[in-house]
Amino acid sequence: MAATADQTLRAVASDETAVDGEGQAAFDRIIEQDSRIEPRDWMPDKYRKSLTRQISQHAHSEIIGMQPEGNWITRAPSLKRKAILMAKVQDEAGHGLYLYSAAETLGTTRDEMMQQLIDGKAKYSSIFNYPARTWADMGAIGWLVDGAAICNQVPLCRASYGPYGRAMVRICKEESFHQRQGFEILLELSNGTPAQKQMAQDAVDRTYAPALMMFGPPDGDSPNSVQSMKWNVKRFSNDELRQRFVDMIVPQAEVLGLTLPDPDLKWNEERGHYDFGELDWDEFKEVLAGRGPCNTQRLERRRAAHEDGAWVREAAKAYAARTAGRQSTELIGA
Ligand SMILES: [Fe+2]
Ligand SMILES: [Fe+2]
Repeated sequence: MAATADQTLRAVASDETAVDGEGQAAFDRIIEQDSRIEPRDWMPDKYRKSLTRQISQHAHSEIIGMQPEGNWITRAPSLKRKAILMAKVQDEAGHGLYLYSAAETLGTTRDEMMQQLIDGKAKYSSIFNYPARTWADMGAIGWLVDGAAICNQVPLCRASYGPYGRAMVRICKEESFHQRQGFEILLELSNGTPAQKQMAQDAVDRTYAPALMMFGPPDGDSPNSVQSMKWNVKRFSNDELRQRFVDMIVPQAEVLGLTLPDPDLKWNEERGHYDFGELDWDEFKEVLAGRGPCNTQRLERRRAAHEDGAWVREAAKAYAARTAGRQSTELIGA
C-alpha cells in the first residue's frame, strides 16, 4: 500500500540522517497542515528550546501553585471542604507530573528542570507569588486563577507539539472542576453572613488584577507570542485571551452577587465585548523579577520540599535498580 503524504512527511522529519534543510521543510509542512510534531520528529532548535521553556514553566506553575492552597488544607472549614481542597491540590501535582514528562520528551531531564526552579533560574506564573489570606481566597483562586488557566489552556489542547497537547486535554477537564469548586465556595460565602460576603468580595478584589495578568503582557510587549502562534503552539494572543476571560467572568460575578474591582469595566455594544481598565504592568514586572510578596517564601518551601524528598528519590532509584537486576536474572534463568 502506498504511504500517505503525511507518512512520507513524517518519515523525512524522523530521519536522523536527514540534513537540516529537509527536516526543516518537513517540519514546515507539518505545521502548515496543522498536524502534530512528535518527539522523534526533526524540529528546529528554537522550537525545541521554546517548547521546553514553555512546558517546564507551566509544570513549575502547577507545582508552586500547590502552596497557597496547600496552606489552607488544615484550616478548611469542614471535612468535606478539606477533602475537596486536598483532591484539587493533588490534581495540581498530577498536572506538574504530566507536564514534566511532556517536557522531558524534548531532551531535558526532570532533574535539570527542577534544579532550574529551585536555583531561581526558571519562571513560573506570577499569580502564585501572592498570599492566600483567608478561606475566601480558595474560592477566588479556584474561580479566577483556575478560570484564567482554562482560557489559556483549552486552545493549548491543539498545540502542535503532540505530548503537550495531549497532556492539556486531561488537565483542562480537571481545571474545569477546580473552577466550579472555587465558584461554589464564593457562592456560599456570598449568600452567607455580611462578614462572609465581605470576605468573598475582598478575596475577589485581591485576585482579579493578578488573574488578568496571568495571560502575560499586552500583545505589543510580547515578542515571543508571534513566533509561538506561527508554530501553532499559541492559538490566540494574550490580549484576545484576556478579553475572552473578562467576557466570561462578568456574568458569573453577577450570579455571585460580587463586583469586579475595575471602575472602567463596562459593556461595549460596538465591540460586543466588555471594556476594562489598564493593568499595573510595573507590578507584574516586579513580581516576575522575583520581588513579589511571596517569591522568596515559595522558592524556599519548594527547595526544602525537594531536599526533604531526597531519600524518597534515592529509595525509588535503588528499588528500580534492584527490580531491573532481578528481572534480567529471571530472563537469563528462563
Ligand atoms: Fe492545574
Ligand atoms: Fe487547577
